[in-house]
Amino acid sequence: PVPARWDDVDDYLTSTLIAHDDALAASIASLAEEGLPEIEVAPLSGKLLHLLARMTGARRVLEIGTLGAYSTIWLARALPAEGRVVSIEAEPHNAAVARRNLERAGVAERVEVREGRGADVLPALEGGEPFDLVFIDADKESNIVYLDWAARLGRPGTVVVVDNVVRSGHVVETDAGAQVDGVRAGLAMLRDDPRFEATALQTLDRKGWDGIAIALVV
Ligand code: DHB
Ligand code: MG
Repeated sequence: PVPARWDDVDDYLTSTLIAHDDALAASIASLAEEGLPEIEVAPLSGKLLHLLARMTGARRVLEIGTLGAYSTIWLARALPAEGRVVSIEAEPHNAAVARRNLERAGVAERVEVREGRGADVLPALEGGEPFDLVFIDADKESNIVYLDWAARLGRPGTVVVVDNVVRSGHVVETDAGAQVDGVRAGLAMLRDDPRFEATALQTLDRKGWDGIAIALVV
């Protein structure tokens, strides 16, 4: 049998491809220090978001679910000086921690942290320039609401990434609770809604067994 060495592989790939960065490390440390859940994206996934933004020439990025701004820093650093990340965070304490981490990373002027529930904040973004990249990483129960807004606030060509679509394999279960139901509804929407073309990848890293969906707004 093949030895289960995926954690060694994650360490190897991360240490090979991801340079140490004080501000990113501090943002991870701040989660435990400030009592936030340690559910930031893995470094290799943070860099994937960063590269997707650069590959697509993104100037406007929407993030739903800031937490401590780890992924936000990766995204902000992918943008030109006049680029903007709008990141929505429902928990005021998370938003305060995120703002400190963004300051420390030197990207605070490129990021607008909007405090509030996505369902309340997203309608206020209507009428602005379309977003080029949307990262959905908040309460999974609302994934279909967030996907609808991603399409409405995007344009043909907008890239949408949805975090946590595998949930340690629970995604295949039809009775695994509201969060998994939300993930499944989101994936069904990506299949059925003509505004999207989508795929998904499983991930196995320091955050465990999970996955991301990647969609194109068509
Ligand atoms: C959870 C949420 C996340 O966004 C994540 O990446 C991991 C876990 C959670 O709510 O358990
Ligand atoms: Mg997540």
